[in-house]
Amino acid sequence: MDKLQAVKGMNDVLPADEPLWRRFEETVAASMRSYGYRRIRTPIVEPTRLFVRGIGEMTDIVEKEMYSFIDSLNGEALTLRPENTAGVVRATLQHNLLHEGPQRMWYAGQMFRHERPQKGRYRQFHQVGAEALGLAGPDADAEIILLCQRILDDLGLTGISLEINSLGQAAERRAHRDTLVAYLEANQDVLDADARRRLHANPLRILDSKNPAMQSLIEGAPKLVDFLGDESRAHFDRVRSLLSAQNIPHRVNPRLVRGLDYYNLTVFEWVAPLGDTVLTVCGGGRYDPLVEMLGGKPAPGCGFALGVERILELMREQAIDTDPSQCDVYVVHQGDETLAAALDAAERLRDAGLDVLMHAGGGSFKAQFRRADGSGAQFAVVIGPDELARGEVGLKWLRDEGGATASGRQRAVALSGLADAVVDAMLAEGESD
Ligand code: HAM
Repeated sequence: MDKLQAVKGMNDVLPADEPLWRRFEETVAASMRSYGYRRIRTPIVEPTRLFVRGIGEMTDIVEKEMYSFIDSLNGEALTLRPENTAGVVRATLQHNLLHEGPQRMWYAGQMFRHERPQKGRYRQFHQVGAEALGLAGPDADAEIILLCQRILDDLGLTGISLEINSLGQAAERRAHRDTLVAYLEANQDVLDADARRRLHANPLRILDSKNPAMQSLIEGAPKLVDFLGDESRAHFDRVRSLLSAQNIPHRVNPRLVRGLDYYNLTVFEWVAPLGDTVLTVCGGGRYDPLVEMLGGKPAPGCGFALGVERILELMREQAIDTDPSQCDVYVVHQGDETLAAALDAAERLRDAGLDVLMHAGGGSFKAQFRRADGSGAQFAVVIGPDELARGEVGLKWLRDEGGATASGRQRAVALSGLADAVVDAMLAEGESD
């Protein structure tokens, strides 16, 4: 039989990666909470037409990257979500959430895009995103950017730069687009096949091309910024001045267009060198047209989504500190008569708020201590028949200050006062750090 393997481009996240994920997830949850964002959980499968309408028919995502299928029970066209802004807006409309006023929401989970897998680009990947709905002012754009920047900073990441642009409003983009198409048509001979195909459907995306033969043409192309009206300009200037007042460095990149059709006004991306390429680790912007595109009464929105695998890769590269321990306390025990006491000791320690790994599977004390060391626990609780008969257990220090293994220190403590003794010992260790 063939060996069963995960689908290409879809990765298992193994327990060894838990410390990294935990550091990331805890940082995200704390930051979201500190800005008043509440978590929303929407289905991974949505009607295909949600993304066709929301993301746009001519985008790469909808044209060639969606995992779509027909529900064999009712013939409905369904898609594994390639992103979650459309899903969040759908849920907001379905449950009439804007009736209660503006909504600040965040999400985390798997997304699916049928791209060519490579480092930092997968077919199943994770995003963490935040969406602010019902807020039209530049303060909301600034808040969303500050929130994302805080997550990156709190993770301890460096070297990630923020690029920002304004896409203006539809009429401004139309005027720019007409001029751009005329310019590109006048230079047809320089366009590659992809660009020619996009010329009328999605000419802005031509400006994203990496084809070296087209770079000077792209350099000289009419710029959207020159087509922005007073209101769009004022919105952009205000966002930028709010960011500057908060000392958030950013660079205006007039070529930043994003790959989804729902944006207007502010768009932004955080980019970082990863290995020998530069990857976008986060993207977002304002998407005021989206609510109406999905059938709702017009309402503004803006948000971002972080690419989790890319962030984790940067955390690895920058050796961001994580806590590798599996537990605080490892309980070793020997002899049938100690089992019930060991289970009880573990439960009481957990009652006291400690993370406890209870040895299972028997073995010599020596073998059990090897496991205890491997678990990263700070202490082992040692339960043997003789000590137990005296109402005592051993408390053994597994780590010296700084995390090095085994000082060998051990003392007897009364079983009845075990949890207090461990908590006191942990506090004492914490103070001496
Ligand atoms: P996006 O730029 O398509 O935007 O994706 C956001 C981030 O997801 C990217 O910057 C990247 O880090 C990560 N990402 C995208 N595709 C892949 C992939 N194949 N493998 C690994 N990571 C990937 C959106 O999805 C919008 N919904 C963002 C948004 C939220 N705009 C407003 N609110």
